[in-house]
Amino acid sequence: MSNSIKTAKPDHDILPIIAERYSPYVFEPKPVEREKLLSMFEAARWAASSFNEQPWRYVLAERTDEKAFATALGCLVEANQEWAKHAGAIAFGFAKKQFTRNGSPNRVAQHDLGMAGSSLTLQGMHLGVYVHMMGGIEPTKIRQAYKVPEEFEPFTAIAFGYPGKPDADYLDGDVAKRDAAARERRPLPEFVFGDTWGNPAAATLG
Ligand SMILES: Cc1cc2nc3c(=O)[nH]c(=O)nc-3n(C[C@H](O)[C@H](O)[C@H](O)COP(=O)(O)O)c2cc1C
Repeated sequence: MSNSIKTAKPDHDILPIIAERYSPYVFEPKPVEREKLLSMFEAARWAASSFNEQPWRYVLAERTDEKAFATALGCLVEANQEWAKHAGAIAFGFAKKQFTRNGSPNRVAQHDLGMAGSSLTLQGMHLGVYVHMMGGIEPTKIRQAYKVPEEFEPFTAIAFGYPGKPDADYLDGDVAKRDAAARERRPLPEFVFGDTWGNPAAATLG
């Protein structure tokens, strides 16, 4: 579903699914098909990672499993529960803090969890499934609920679903307003630098 308010207005050419991706606050309260969830995790599986460590792990709770979904929802901060309760599934993203090969700290574990999350997100866009990532989680509750081993750190949650109608009567608070906000980004010269930090790379100046 293309949503013109949310579609990026890029300064340079990008893939349509990158332009159309956004993080919905309004989800239709219905499940996401298991086959689509599997495709998304399969895309995550094939992400690049340092030393092919694949430090990512996920816990998945589908809307169809009411008990599991309620447990997952309870592991989000309240502000996220307000809108994520309508998602079709919720997952938590974890990263392994040490390399399996030698036990030394994996400085890029979070980066690689992000790589996997990005692949998952774009695969979802290809299938019409949107995701909204969250840092607003309750790590202690997550550790207890899922018996997470010490060497794994919970970092993120992912809400999966289909964008809903902003005038739907099941929405709470300012969820619809947040969903309608335009997507803002800083321009390339403000984050791609050349000879000195803060000096735009020549390529960005055209
Ligand atoms: C790692 C990560 C954590 C985030 N945490 C939250 C969160 O806890 N609550 C929330 O409402 N949005 C959260 N977001 C969504 C961002 O606010 C959103 O991606 C950003 O505003 C850009 O909007 P867009 O994704 O629609 O382009 C998070 C996004 C990422 C990638």
